[in-house]
Amino acid sequence: MKRIKINLKEGSYFVYTGYPLNDIGKLIKEGYGKKTLILSDRNVHPLYGKTVKDSIAGKGKEIIEIVVPAGERAKTLNTAFKILKNCAENNMGRNDTILTLGGGVISDLGGFAAATYMRGIHFIAVPTTLLAQVDASIGGKTGVNLPVGKNLVGSFYQPSFVYMDYKTLSTLPEKEIKQGLAEIIKYGVIKSREIFNLLEKTPPREIKKNLPFLIEESIKIKKGVVEKDEKEKNGLREILNFGHTLGHAIEISHLSKFFHGESVALGMAGETYISWKKGLCGKNVYYAVKKMLKDYSLPYDFSSIEMDKIFDYLKYDKKARDGNLRFVLAQNIGKVKSGVVIKIEEVIKILREISKDEG
Ligand SMILES: NC(=O)c1ccc[n+]([C@@H]2O[C@H](COP(=O)([O-])OP(=O)(O)OC[C@H]3O[C@@H](n4cnc5c(N)ncnc54)[C@H](O)[C@@H]3O)[C@@H](O)[C@H]2O)c1
Ligand SMILES: [Zn+2]
Repeated sequence: MKRIKINLKEGSYFVYTGYPLNDIGKLIKEGYGKKTLILSDRNVHPLYGKTVKDSIAGKGKEIIEIVVPAGERAKTLNTAFKILKNCAENNMGRNDTILTLGGGVISDLGGFAAATYMRGIHFIAVPTTLLAQVDASIGGKTGVNLPVGKNLVGSFYQPSFVYMDYKTLSTLPEKEIKQGLAEIIKYGVIKSREIFNLLEKTPPREIKKNLPFLIEESIKIKKGVVEKDEKEKNGLREILNFGHTLGHAIEISHLSKFFHGESVALGMAGETYISWKKGLCGKNVYYAVKKMLKDYSLPYDFSSIEMDKIFDYLKYDKKARDGNLRFVLAQNIGKVKSGVVIKIEEVIKILREISKDEG
């Protein structure tokens, strides 16, 4: 059990890692109002809803529960509206609390509702996916999707605290564990040779025993970045985008073929290849990243990817209007260079070669 403090100018808070779910009520006893709205999804609520509810209920606390369909499709303004309407119909006040129990969809959605209801009420995140534990629940980004794009409506809003029980990962499907591992590999490449080495030397089927360490180290890396650039204003947060410039293009252009972590895995392979070809890192770095992705059964091979679809997306993406793309590129394991601007034509030329260099 560890408490990691996220130090921010206003509203520092703790991330409780490895705590038992049924103890969460102890932290909510004082403060946080009389009413707690627990937001969860149809997969997670039957597994952990009662434990959280029983831990908080009683002692003058009233619980309201909202259970939404699982997955990205629930992350809409329409669902946010339903949550806000419930808050109002239950006469929740400014001192009351929204607690999210679930993955990143649930914390983004509930965090957004908490940020906007009465201009902001308490928000507690209880992430239950590996991805949400190492990424989505840390850093204060909340929001919902619009039909034309992801996360287009939202707010920076920090939780009062984040609380995670590693045991919740025992019910998480392997496919979802992999999405989180992709982000952990990202943290290794951008900042931590220790994470990378540990992943390298652990047989993948035994990785679960190292998850507590990997989660805590990942949180510390995200914390370090967020503390320096809370609202994405001075560019320091850009480092977290490693693998994501290309990853995002793959995710969108290959509609629902790859999950987010898988797209980022391919993105990391592609961006490390670009880095090697631009002379920023050695071939060994590219091969180490590729081997890591392969060992953890994440996609790394572009031979079955429709490259033209990615290139079309890159060419017409708004972010690249002036014909350039911005990358975070690996210089070594644990070290990256942010803000590397490359002409789209050059990116395309380099990536056309990638399948020929597979090995
Ligand atoms: N705010 C941020 O900084 C940030 C960062 C990264 C990602 N995100 C967002 O996070 C979302 C993705 O998060 P996610 O991967 O956690 O997705 P998710 O919330 O959809 O969860 C994935 C699946 O796992 C199920 N699940 C969750 N916990 C479980 C458990 N313990 N046992 C069994 N099943 C469980 C869910 O019901 C769902 O089907 C995206 O919407 C993304 O935009 C936000
Ligand atoms: Zn990501």
